[in-house]
Amino acid sequence: MRICILMGSPKPKGNTAELCKPFMDELLKHQAEVEYITLHDKNIAPCTGCYHCQKTADEYGCIKKDDMQSIIEKILWADILVFATPSYTWQATPPMKAVMDRMFGLTKYKQSPLVNINKGQSYALLATCGDEPNDGLGLLDGVFRQWSAHSGLAYLGMYAVQDKKGLASFQTEEAITGARQFARSFIKNDVGITARRYNILSDFTAVYSFLEETYDETTLNSYLLPQYFEYAHSLLWFDYLRAHRMGLWEQNGIIVGIAAYEMNIGTAHLHTRNTHAYLLPELLEWAEREISVTKDGMNSLQVWITDKEPDKQELLKNRGYKLAHKEAVNIFKYTNPFVERQLPVGYGLIDGTAVDYAKQAECFWRGFNHEEDPPDANIDSNVKCCNAPHADATLDTIITAPNGEYACALGMWFDKHNKYAYLEPLATVPKYRRMGLASIALTEAMRKTQAMGAEYCFGGAGEFYTAMGFETICYRELWKKEWE
Ligand SMILES: Cc1cc2nc3c(=O)[nH]c(=O)nc-3n(C[C@H](O)[C@H](O)[C@H](O)COP(=O)(O)O)c2cc1C
Repeated sequence: MRICILMGSPKPKGNTAELCKPFMDELLKHQAEVEYITLHDKNIAPCTGCYHCQKTADEYGCIKKDDMQSIIEKILWADILVFATPSYTWQATPPMKAVMDRMFGLTKYKQSPLVNINKGQSYALLATCGDEPNDGLGLLDGVFRQWSAHSGLAYLGMYAVQDKKGLASFQTEEAITGARQFARSFIKNDVGITARRYNILSDFTAVYSFLEETYDETTLNSYLLPQYFEYAHSLLWFDYLRAHRMGLWEQNGIIVGIAAYEMNIGTAHLHTRNTHAYLLPELLEWAEREISVTKDGMNSLQVWITDKEPDKQELLKNRGYKLAHKEAVNIFKYTNPFVERQLPVGYGLIDGTAVDYAKQAECFWRGFNHEEDPPDANIDSNVKCCNAPHADATLDTIITAPNGEYACALGMWFDKHNKYAYLEPLATVPKYRRMGLASIALTEAMRKTQAMGAEYCFGGAGEFYTAMGFETICYRELWKKEWE
């Protein structure tokens, strides 16, 4: 994408130039080609209304010979023309106004249908003013709307910042973020990125593949692992009714970002392809709108990231989030020796292929320390989870007690694409604890995934895992913000 910025302020280091800096930086970051042209140092004579340019059919046609000739070349080169100007008496500065008038020759108004030398181009206004922008720049914004419409061109809108304290007003987080966002909105238009709601019935598989494909061993994608996403979807506690509150960003139909919750609203994960990290502020805005909760008049949102994601830490800090909780992410590397333990006499090992779902559900329920009776749908929730799209019954592992009860049970997931195993859940019924059953079941399941090609296994946080040889590779961080 080619962008030509015409900078109309008489001050090369003034407010408007300052606002151009983050705007231009963001464009360059996204591989846009940018031309920045200052007008105050150019020789641009005012239009004298000779109408010669309207008499030429398909060329610019202005007969004045000054710097406008080379400026017109740059204008015609660009896909988007950005007019950067301070408000001077509610209008553009004199050299900017001269350029605008001298662009008369780009549109042959008298021809029918209208001929545009710069057909397909878009205009945008990046402006500064002393008054509140609606007052200081409302008229000029209107001029651009009318001018673009009259010339049959698209107007991408105005981004304006008020001069409250001179240069410092254009160095605030708000001004910089706004200018960057304005720049990104062009990129977005250019590459066809759209945001929409997640449709659980039709989008799950595509989201799973997206998470699998974009898995990053360092950042762990804020722990939005495909298995974690899928496991939650199959549980009793998952909030189906609000699944449409998750957001998907797509580029020509390909998913490039997601704002999701695990089980319920209130806590979000934000993840994009590396090439689309610039969308993160937009994802966060979506999450604040759709995934936050409101209690006693206060809104709040928590966002999970990992400590290996400095850009997200920075973004959250800048948006007023505070670190509320931290927990270790532990993995067991299969290059390490597995724990060798013998099953106690009378206990047996089975996999999920011949499982009694009711007994397994009971084992998980008691194993997670619930003392009350399980809800009616507990068994169905278990059946659903065991039959989730990527569940593998041969990896599910159960230890049976001598009396036939299920004493310990786990679910194991294998990511063929990224060669890791993912443990979820693992539970031992309280009366069968301290017998080493969990480590036997886990070792059994890890060995199976090793044979399938896994190189390590994700486990939980806590002593049990460190005692088994799991090591901490990073920390998950939960950042929280509350607002009225
Ligand atoms: C001659 C002149 C006219 C101005 N007229 C307006 C105006 O009509 N409305 C407004 O909001 N600000 C007006 N301003 C304030 C400027 O638009 C504002 O300070 C701007 O940020 C200056 O940008 P610069 O440092 O790039 O020149 C005017 C300033 C000057 C010097």
